[in-house]
Amino acid sequence: MKREKRRSQLIFTAGLEKGNKTGNMKGISVHLIYVEPASFILTMKVWMKRTLVCLTTLYLFLMYSPILLDIKPKAYSLPFRNFSGSLAENHKLDQTEHLFEGILEGPESIVFHEGALYTGLADGRIVRIEDGKIITVARTGEPCELPHEERKCGRPLGMRKGKDGLLYICDAFYGIFTMNFTTGALQNILPSSVLVAGHKLNFPDDLDIDNEGNIYFTDASTKWDLTTIYYLMYEYEAGGRVIKYNIHSGETKVLVSNLNFPNGVQLSRDGNSLLICEIMNRRILRLYIKGKQEGKVEVFADALPAEPDNIRPSSRGYWVGFTSARNSTNPLLSDIVAEYTTLKRLYGRIHSIMGTLLVKISEFVGNTAFKAFAYKFNRGDFLLSLLRLHGIVMEFNENGEILRSFHSPDGSTSALSEVGEHEGFLYLGSFVNPYLGRLKL
Ligand SMILES: *[C@@H]1O[C@H](CO)[C@@H](O)[C@H](O)[C@H]1NC(C)=O
Ligand SMILES: *[C@@H]1O[C@H](CO)[C@@H](O)[C@H](O)[C@H]1NC(C)=O
Ligand SMILES: *[C@@H]1O[C@H](CO)[C@@H](O)[C@H](O)[C@H]1NC(C)=O
Repeated sequence: MKREKRRSQLIFTAGLEKGNKTGNMKGISVHLIYVEPASFILTMKVWMKRTLVCLTTLYLFLMYSPILLDIKPKAYSLPFRNFSGSLAENHKLDQTEHLFEGILEGPESIVFHEGALYTGLADGRIVRIEDGKIITVARTGEPCELPHEERKCGRPLGMRKGKDGLLYICDAFYGIFTMNFTTGALQNILPSSVLVAGHKLNFPDDLDIDNEGNIYFTDASTKWDLTTIYYLMYEYEAGGRVIKYNIHSGETKVLVSNLNFPNGVQLSRDGNSLLICEIMNRRILRLYIKGKQEGKVEVFADALPAEPDNIRPSSRGYWVGFTSARNSTNPLLSDIVAEYTTLKRLYGRIHSIMGTLLVKISEFVGNTAFKAFAYKFNRGDFLLSLLRLHGIVMEFNENGEILRSFHSPDGSTSALSEVGEHEGFLYLGSFVNPYLGRLKL
């Protein structure tokens, strides 16, 4: 009994002894030290106190210090839908061909014009794809290095063909452009520096154009931009807006604000309303822009199993591209942590300290690969890689009902931003994939 007690008061210390003069290591030696019970408890108490003070200070610093990243994640909880009926799991999307794999980085949006396909890439180029060839037509930004100069590159996101025969482009950094399809001549018709209701365009994302020269476009956030997109999603910020811009009068007007990462927009067939994909609420809204109900916002489709990106016409309604699907059986990590706001604030701020440090070190070192890694880490790219990807696209009818869905349960074709239906094929765009998807309908 007594022996047992004494044994518990032993403290083991291990140390590596220095080698002798010939360089041979003597190896590890273990010392057993007896400590008087009373002084042992006292020492432990002091250490526990010190540790507690340090941890509390660290916690208070991380939570409240104004010098760290300004991020206040909000709690949310969204309903799930079962994978049944028109959402029943299938493998249709797995049959997608990956065109130009490895050479077409992030073809977000797709426009068809005179037998060619136009898309905008991660490096700021607008390209024409014709007869299996990629031709650079224009560049919204300047020649640059990715990923750390993405702001300089420009980032063409949503694109549409206007009734005037020009290509309209939403650039995440530079604002709205028109482009002549033939010459590639660009015009920055609404630069992002323009103030709309007191805020510059922070994150222009997608647009649609009516017959009267009104452009309806989303500004995804008033706080975050494309370089901080993961923080935008992580915080659940709700500072996004839908803006109307008249190309003739130059007038701008905020139609809806406080949306949670509004993304794709699409005018309804009758032209009376605008469908708006609200990424972080996993729903699609309908805003009436004409008639008796003008200004009213209603839910078009909600409890979607994935984040809706761009929305485009289909032969029977609308196609929507999504990031990654899940249901209540297999929620994503982002769903699981959605309500832990303190944890998210702590992690977000620690991540930004580490990211900023890494970027600074990489700039000091000057190695390109290291710089790219540091930039991507800081931006939070790996958060996407933590998500289990389950590719999905859905077709909706005019009433917001899901007509059909194509799945890629293993994520081999996922993170899709847009579905362009053209001559019996679906062309699948993505903000991150290094290819353009094509699927026979
Ligand atoms: C969720 O999806 C998985 C397959 O991805 C399926 O096995 C499961 O039955 C689904 N659960 C519900 C509730 O739909
Ligand atoms: C969804 O699936 C769960 C688990 O399989 C089941 O308990 C629930 O009744 C289903 N809900 C609907 C609306 O079908
Ligand atoms: C595109 O540029 C060409 C050459 O300048 C011009 O003839 C044509 O009208 C322009 N297209 C549009 C739609 O403005």
